[in-house]
Amino acid sequence: MTSLLIRGGTVVRPTGDERADILIHEGTIREIYVRTTGPQKLLAADQTIEANGQLLFPGFVDCHVHFREPGMEQKGTMETESQSAVAGGVTTVCDMPNTNPPTVSITALKEKVRIAEGITACDIRFFFGVTQTEHLPELRRLWTEQGLVTLRNRCCGVKLYLDHSTGNQKAAKGVMEEVFHTCAELNIPLVVHCEDPVLNARAAKLNTREDIAAHSAIRAPESEQRAITTAIELAKKTGTHLHIAHLSTKRGVQLIGQAKKDGVAVTCEVAPHHLFLSTEDYETIGTFGKMNPPLRTPDHCEALWEGIEKGVVDCIASDHAPHTPEEKQVTPALAAPSGVPGTETMIPLLLTVAAGRWPHPRRRAFQPKLMYIDIRRLCFDNPNRIFSLGQTMIEQDTSANLVLVQPEEEWELKGAQLHSKCGWTPYEGWHVTGKPTVVGRW
Ligand code: DOR
Ligand code: ZN
Repeated sequence: MTSLLIRGGTVVRPTGDERADILIHEGTIREIYVRTTGPQKLLAADQTIEANGQLLFPGFVDCHVHFREPGMEQKGTMETESQSAVAGGVTTVCDMPNTNPPTVSITALKEKVRIAEGITACDIRFFFGVTQTEHLPELRRLWTEQGLVTLRNRCCGVKLYLDHSTGNQKAAKGVMEEVFHTCAELNIPLVVHCEDPVLNARAAKLNTREDIAAHSAIRAPESEQRAITTAIELAKKTGTHLHIAHLSTKRGVQLIGQAKKDGVAVTCEVAPHHLFLSTEDYETIGTFGKMNPPLRTPDHCEALWEGIEKGVVDCIASDHAPHTPEEKQVTPALAAPSGVPGTETMIPLLLTVAAGRWPHPRRRAFQPKLMYIDIRRLCFDNPNRIFSLGQTMIEQDTSANLVLVQPEEEWELKGAQLHSKCGWTPYEGWHVTGKPTVVGRW
């Protein structure tokens, strides 16, 4: 295929929707003909898609995924998880460093970039992890050496874990402040997993329960809140651009909202599972609902939606973290690994809300305010800006990286039909409205 015409799509833009015909030639947008009241310009191509008002977005960005390669290929590979992302309308992802080996050295990053170069459908960027002081000179070399510029361009920031999760990447004592200083000096966005290790360890020690819901009690809201407070203090002190990963609590929203008002350079993201699931779902999904930070009570979910409405939340990112069903279904329940897949279901779930429906089949109808332009802002414009990803916005002479959305199409989420290697979803059987299809990227 050399040329493609998308006729009569509705381009969702910050400046307002625009009905347009888009001509793509060899992967580049050659012409955008905006339909006004004048006569229709006749554009021709080898292939035509009649969009009939379907929505056109730039390929979505998921700025928080765990694609598992290298080292955990039984859960997923860059190839399989990229297919999952693209099937969900996501064409750029930022992969976390908790692989095996972890991405804490230039050598490890090089190997990941080498694997990613074989994947064309999805643009995979990588976070560099720091758990020990020895990793900081590597980071400095990566960011300053001329010969490493190609590698640096694939690196979207630094990730810091304040407590253990999959891959045991908790930063060693005393490393945290140094990481903040280094990121401030080198002007690197710093993503922090905010859970307090002392509070978590104490609660785990005191815990006597074995049911899966105990996970939410052990890693309690206070743990996230304390860690967010610490991280914001360090951001204030050092001037680092702090990005808080998977914000999950009411108080966390308030703390970040206040820090923003105070002029601290802080941004944050929320994961779909914290927006659509709650502790009430343990009853039906059991250990498949175990993740870090854990599911919260419904009042927290509502506060996160409010944070989106008020503009405190900058991004929605999936924290796509596949584990095999065998790994998840263990006894005792609390021994199950944490994490859920989500990169393929994120956009459909959000489209459902924008279509005026609530996809959860059991939880009471709840109608947050979310428009299509908000999805673009949260899952494209903001992550693209925060992590300097350089993706283009549907403009002439830029590479064609588009998602066509059929906003009224209703379909059912089924783990077996999704593309992640893990083969399951916590949203099994949910009905969603809105189907994304990636076009123009080949
Ligand atoms: O639930 C989670 N899963 N939280 C994390 O922090 C890591 C992730 C994973 O890699 O499985
Ligand atoms: Zn994560």
